[in-house]
Amino acid sequence: MNHVLFYCRPGFEKECAGEVQDKANALELFGFPRVKSNTGYVLFEFYQQGDADTFIQKQPYSELIFARQMMAVNPLLENLPSDDRISPILDAVVDFPRCGDLRVETPDTNEAKELLKFCRKFTVPLRQAMRGKGILYNKDNPKKPVLHLCFIAPGCCYVGYSYSHNNSQFFMGIPRLKFPADAPSRSTLKLEEAFHVFIPREEWDERLASGMWGVDLGACPGGWTYQLVKRSMFVHAIDNGQMAQSLMDTGQVKHHEVDGFKFEPPRKNVTWIVCDMVEKPARVAHLMGDWLIKAWAKEAIFNLKLPMKGRYDEVLQDIENLKLYLIQNGVKFKLQAKHLYHDREEITVHIQRLDNRSPH
Ligand SMILES: C[S@@+](CC[C@H](N)C(=O)[O-])C[C@H]1O[C@@H](n2cnc3c(N)ncnc32)[C@H](O)[C@@H]1O
Repeated sequence: MNHVLFYCRPGFEKECAGEVQDKANALELFGFPRVKSNTGYVLFEFYQQGDADTFIQKQPYSELIFARQMMAVNPLLENLPSDDRISPILDAVVDFPRCGDLRVETPDTNEAKELLKFCRKFTVPLRQAMRGKGILYNKDNPKKPVLHLCFIAPGCCYVGYSYSHNNSQFFMGIPRLKFPADAPSRSTLKLEEAFHVFIPREEWDERLASGMWGVDLGACPGGWTYQLVKRSMFVHAIDNGQMAQSLMDTGQVKHHEVDGFKFEPPRKNVTWIVCDMVEKPARVAHLMGDWLIKAWAKEAIFNLKLPMKGRYDEVLQDIENLKLYLIQNGVKFKLQAKHLYHDREEITVHIQRLDNRSPH
């Protein structure tokens, strides 16, 4: 196989393609992206057969910012006959690894999503046929590769697979989160999604523990603070605006009407710094660097707002500068960045400090 399919937010195909091209070059796997604006996906074609599988094994999915999913695929299947769609699909998967899960998906465009009802229905007979042929294990197995179908139009799909240790665990690459009725803003889902994407579920109780202190820069009206409060944390909420009364009533929130760039925590007992200030991304990245260098927090989640033009270049530059800043100051860290489903003109970055330095 020599094609890899990536899902992304519609409108961000160019950024996704640019990033994949850079990663492929770095791995010395050569090819080129095929990009159509606003389709919600990018197809990368390698010159060499077999390079698709090598890429999805060697390129850590978690290091891709703009891709929501990555899978090796066969060339597009077109004009699937409506009386037997299954046979051509079975023919297309003969050399696939045996899979433990089947996802019949679409890209995230309104047009393609109209096919989701069909996808749901089609999954049932397809799964049976795949199991009959031994392409799918008889029971779902989350440790085995995932078989994907991506319908981009009626009767027209890509068939591919991803590795479960190196993909998005979510259907269509999108975590399904329900907006909590008592949250003060929809932004709350951005931070919740970040927890799901960046922090393994089994580590939540330790890393997002009750009783911890968090600082929320640019907190109003409180969607992000809500997430910390919901996990029984205490929060310094920094913003000149109004915080939702429901959050203040919990007694877990201290509201400071000061500039987020000047706030210093009164006691150095903070685990989490989160930041959703609408500000120049380079400025926010530098501020987060300061917090981690001074060891005022152990983990950070923050947004970098994207400029109108040169979005990929800006992100790359800001992240490289931040990494350099941390390295030059002796901070050991793990950094992940993602264009989350709930992000629009921004990306979300997570940094975990891995050293035990004391606050100063
Ligand atoms: C996108 S809103 C934050 C929404 C919030 N995360 C939520 O979930 O409800 C951005 C906020 O950043 C605040 N902000 C912008 N610059 C700031 C600064 N220098 N210091 C403190 N807050 C700032 C604004 O007042 C605004 O309330």
